[in-house]
Amino acid sequence: MKAVQYDTYGDSDVLKIVQIDAPHAGPGQIRIVVHAAGVNPLDWKLRAGKMRDFFPVDFPSGVGAEAAGIVDEVGDGVSGTAVGDAVFGLAVRRTAMAEKAVLTSWTHKPDGMPFEVAGALSIVAESATRILDLIAIKAGETLVVAGAAGGVGSAVVQLARHRGVTVIGTASEAKHEYLRKLGAIPTTYEPGLPARVREIAPQGVDAALDLAGAGVIPDLIEIVRDPARVLSIADITAPKHGARVTTSQSERPEVALSDVARLYTEGAFDLHIERVFPIEQIAQAQEISATGRVAGKLVVRVA
Ligand SMILES: NC(=O)c1ccc[n+]([C@@H]2O[C@H](COP(=O)([O-])OP(=O)(O)OC[C@H]3O[C@@H](n4cnc5c(N)ncnc54)[C@H](OP(=O)(O)O)[C@@H]3O)[C@@H](O)[C@H]2O)c1
Repeated sequence: MKAVQYDTYGDSDVLKIVQIDAPHAGPGQIRIVVHAAGVNPLDWKLRAGKMRDFFPVDFPSGVGAEAAGIVDEVGDGVSGTAVGDAVFGLAVRRTAMAEKAVLTSWTHKPDGMPFEVAGALSIVAESATRILDLIAIKAGETLVVAGAAGGVGSAVVQLARHRGVTVIGTASEAKHEYLRKLGAIPTTYEPGLPARVREIAPQGVDAALDLAGAGVIPDLIEIVRDPARVLSIADITAPKHGARVTTSQSERPEVALSDVARLYTEGAFDLHIERVFPIEQIAQAQEISATGRVAGKLVVRVA
């Protein structure tokens, strides 16, 4: 089968389309014919060697953490999913960008959901649900989200709004209308964030999430006043300031995936797809992801 691989750290030109044997579904896994696979910042960070001290890559390495498609093989012990079902989910480490991929967690794709949306949904659904649970945000509370217009931010804002939370989100001014449509009160991320947030929420802020990793933790602690309710997914120095960082997926990601699929069906959740690339343009897709300017998600169309 066709797959994206690279065999050394480097720029996007190390990415190649190669022919390899298709993988098989192990116990508790399924294999899909991939229709679409989401592009995530981790893909290019791993490829560029930026994570080599924490997550070294074994070469040759595949690419991609999430995909949507049609089930064509079901592993031992799997129930409730059959060959021919349309699903989306998390792939075995870095293998999603291929004609066939093995999924470890998945849920059924709602009928009306395009494969492009489904293919890009798993990472943001799992991450957003996990971090909202970790900071234990409740209805009636106010949340600041730094980096609210990206993939994870787009999901966090909508899921927090659905939980009855007021959300103040940072983004560049061009993306403020996008944030308003998602249900957040936008502000910029220039210096002076605590003062701007005080104006928007004079009653105070209960918790804050850092999704941009742009050195904003001290500001977020000043805003929330309780470091235990400041959490980052992108800044490993957060604990130095007394805040928390999370990097590991939850134990049962499929719960978040099926919750978000249900909200999509109810019209309470959507995912903006900024651009769809053919698999041959994976290098360009990763370069655009690496600009850090994407609203919502980028997707690669495989079949
Ligand atoms: N720890 C985990 O479990 C986990 C899980 C998923 C993702 N992540 C990490 O979390 C980060 C976010 O992921 P993502 O998929 O949401 O990324 P993304 O889609 O690439 O995020 C792009 C967004 O970031 C915004 N942004 C860039 N610099 C900013 C700044 N200084 N302040 C506020 N917003 C800024 C951009 O808005 P503007 O264009 O308006 O600047 C853009 O909309 C990445 O570093 C990713 O690797 C970690």
